[in-house]
Amino acid sequence: MKRGELTGVAFKDGINGKGGMPESFRMAEHWPRKLRLAVLHGLVFGSFDNDVPDLEEYFGEEITGRIERVLGGRTPVVLGRFTQMLPNNWKLYVENVKDSYHASILHLFFTTFELNKLSMRGGIIVSPGGGHHVSYSAIDRSSEAQDSSYADQKIRSDSGYRLADPSLLEGFSEVGDDTTLQILSTFPGFVLQQIQNSVAVRQILPRGAGRTELNWTLLGFEEDTPEQRRVRLKQANLVGSAGYISMEDGCVGGFVQRGVAGAADQAAVLRMGGETAESSESRVTEASVRGFWKAYLAAMGIRSEVSA
Ligand SMILES: [Fe+2]
Repeated sequence: MKRGELTGVAFKDGINGKGGMPESFRMAEHWPRKLRLAVLHGLVFGSFDNDVPDLEEYFGEEITGRIERVLGGRTPVVLGRFTQMLPNNWKLYVENVKDSYHASILHLFFTTFELNKLSMRGGIIVSPGGGHHVSYSAIDRSSEAQDSSYADQKIRSDSGYRLADPSLLEGFSEVGDDTTLQILSTFPGFVLQQIQNSVAVRQILPRGAGRTELNWTLLGFEEDTPEQRRVRLKQANLVGSAGYISMEDGCVGGFVQRGVAGAADQAAVLRMGGETAESSESRVTEASVRGFWKAYLAAMGIRSEVSA
């Protein structure tokens, strides 16, 4: 198998000994840049840089373990794909993914149907370099029943909405534990999500200073039973450009981009949860957003004036 090598050039040797490429022409000097590829639990990563570390080393043990939790030991199959254009810079979408406390207030669907509250058991993991993160939560029905933290802080009032077909939310334990939400991102633009039984990979591709392409790949597994496959297809409605949950994430970056354009000479400091970029048991923190900027500044060779 040829691996990106140039195998032929039209009329390289000319016709009847005339024309063609000069004697000094070497095909080996003209093939395209080669991608270095690595596979981790079915995910294929590529880099043009031969000096990048191995994936496990780049992600670190905790992040690799969380990828393994969702994908390890089973065979992913693609259930569907879609692409959406975001009207904002790619870094605003990364901030949205890393922001572990917006989900339960921006996404009405989450709190209305009690899929995710910050009072649930969970936490965030930020990699030592800051660039990778995991936000996760686990179902805990006993404490949910008496939870009034949102009403007490007047964050959300009960809407009274009910689903005509509640079977949308009837899932199964994804990997045999009680974690119902795990959002994982790696620097710079990769996301692996488990929201209930909606497992998907998101790829964040910059398409200009104010445009981003977001590619979704929805996953099931060869080991799924027919009933589990039905659940996944139903819960695919939670995500994507018109998803019951993800819809707001597709437009909120555009709101922020337009908003900050009016205050170009001002700055904001992300202080929720302190000033460090470390793992914590609370998701009421901007630690993973600070982690992203720490990694971004390092990658771009920019010195930070704010301690991280
Ligand atoms: Fe969101």
